[in-house]
Amino acid sequence: MIKPLDLSVRAGDPARLATPLLAVALPAEPSVPRALAALDKKYEGAIGRAIRRKDFTGGKDETLLLFSPGGGPERVLLVGMGSAERVKGVTRAATLAGRRAQGLNIGTMAFWAADLEGAALEGAVIGVSAGSWEFREFHSKPKEALNARRPKPLASAVLLVPNVRAASGALGAGVAVAAGQRLTRFLAMLPGNVCTPEYLARTAREIAKRHRLGVKVMGRRDLQRLKMGSFLAVAQGTPQDPKLIALEYRGGRRGEAPIALVGKGLCFDSGGISIKPAPSMELMKFDMSGAAGVLGAMEAIARMRLRINVVALIGSTTNMLSGEAMKPGDVVRAMSGKSIEIQNTDAEGRLVLADVLSYARRYKPQAIVDAATLTGACVVALGNTTVGVMGNDQAVVDEVLAAGRRGNEVGWQLPLFEEYKELIKSDVADIRNIGGRGAGTITAALFLAEFTEGMPWVHLDVAGTAYSENDLVVMPKGPTGTPVRTFVEFVRGRAR
Ligand code: BES
Ligand code: MN
Ligand code: ZN
Repeated sequence: MIKPLDLSVRAGDPARLATPLLAVALPAEPSVPRALAALDKKYEGAIGRAIRRKDFTGGKDETLLLFSPGGGPERVLLVGMGSAERVKGVTRAATLAGRRAQGLNIGTMAFWAADLEGAALEGAVIGVSAGSWEFREFHSKPKEALNARRPKPLASAVLLVPNVRAASGALGAGVAVAAGQRLTRFLAMLPGNVCTPEYLARTAREIAKRHRLGVKVMGRRDLQRLKMGSFLAVAQGTPQDPKLIALEYRGGRRGEAPIALVGKGLCFDSGGISIKPAPSMELMKFDMSGAAGVLGAMEAIARMRLRINVVALIGSTTNMLSGEAMKPGDVVRAMSGKSIEIQNTDAEGRLVLADVLSYARRYKPQAIVDAATLTGACVVALGNTTVGVMGNDQAVVDEVLAAGRRGNEVGWQLPLFEEYKELIKSDVADIRNIGGRGAGTITAALFLAEFTEGMPWVHLDVAGTAYSENDLVVMPKGPTGTPVRTFVEFVRGRAR
């Protein structure tokens, strides 16, 4: 398991805290909060002066580092929240603080924001963890050797709260989500030669063992028995055994319909015979981010012991070229019985998901939410910070959109109008696996919709958001942990 950050809470005057760094989150145009009066005094009034002289105005992502003239926290990092809503502001400030602390190599830090309780505390815990996340799996030298003067990557963080006992619920929930996100980001970062379908299956087994969930891993032979001709078409280009992974969390009543979380787990997507261009093709190691998000969410949900049943379903393989790979023009039959003309082998995610969604039917789920890095068109339409959301049940779509807002993973709905269905009609089969030039995210979702008839279903296209190609200020470029929080908030919203 990935090493988590040791997160804890503490009460008391921040002025008396012995820590290399105390991050202090302040709103726009702040004054020195009463709770920090003693701290300011210890800093010989430097905090108040910085504010009065406008060296620090509390703007969004604004920071100012002050040094103690003696005693108390060694450094104070003022972090601005701007005029953001409180929970959002605190979460973002904590994320930025975590990132700065990690950069300073000081080993530990503390975080203060006014009245850190409930959702704000949970957000701060998640933020510090997310901001300080690093991927050093393949570096031969430990970080210590890279910075001999200040030898410590961040290992722990203390959050200052008004009441330690009242904080335990939010701390626990925050730590659970943080652990889930770390797992998701770690998996997404792993390259295709390490993170194989077998590796994802092993990770699912580990989660199952840790939290006593049910787990079932099916391979090529099982997929053949299940007549998953669509999933198998993608998997036929690789000798690696494809995996259909089912992870069952039973926190709800016996016999109660579960929520199904479904993830696209392409450990690498070369495009297949419809091969992708070489530049940036290495990014396609992240094409299992939907699956990674599902696993991270299950880790978080199990840690939180939510009172609800959830089944995670992951379809995992690698989209490769070979003498036996699927070809443009091939017609296959999905588990549901529908025939599919494969016009582009690079539209493989929907082929895998078609059969996984059909498999979900046996659970009679109360709702299905899938996450997939499904279309480049989604990145064009919505960029790296907005999730594409579509579905066949407006109430559930609204529920997922609200969950995304609560979890700071904002989504935007795209329409699944009937007219678009024309675009995936085929001359030789029931449907084809690509649309025309336009509305690529919508036609991909409409393809999935063909396999979810009669089940309330929402689709998250996380092609742009699971892995950012830009530095997001609070996070470096790379895997973001999306959609772990959306999943967790959605499930939590339905738990008893
Ligand atoms: N995994 C890709 C989608 C993707 C592309 C995600 C770029 C992130 C960045 C998916 O399997 C794919 O290749 N989709 C095609 C669909 C097309 C052939 C209809 C795409 O988006 O180009
Ligand atoms: Mn593809
Ligand atoms: Zn893909």
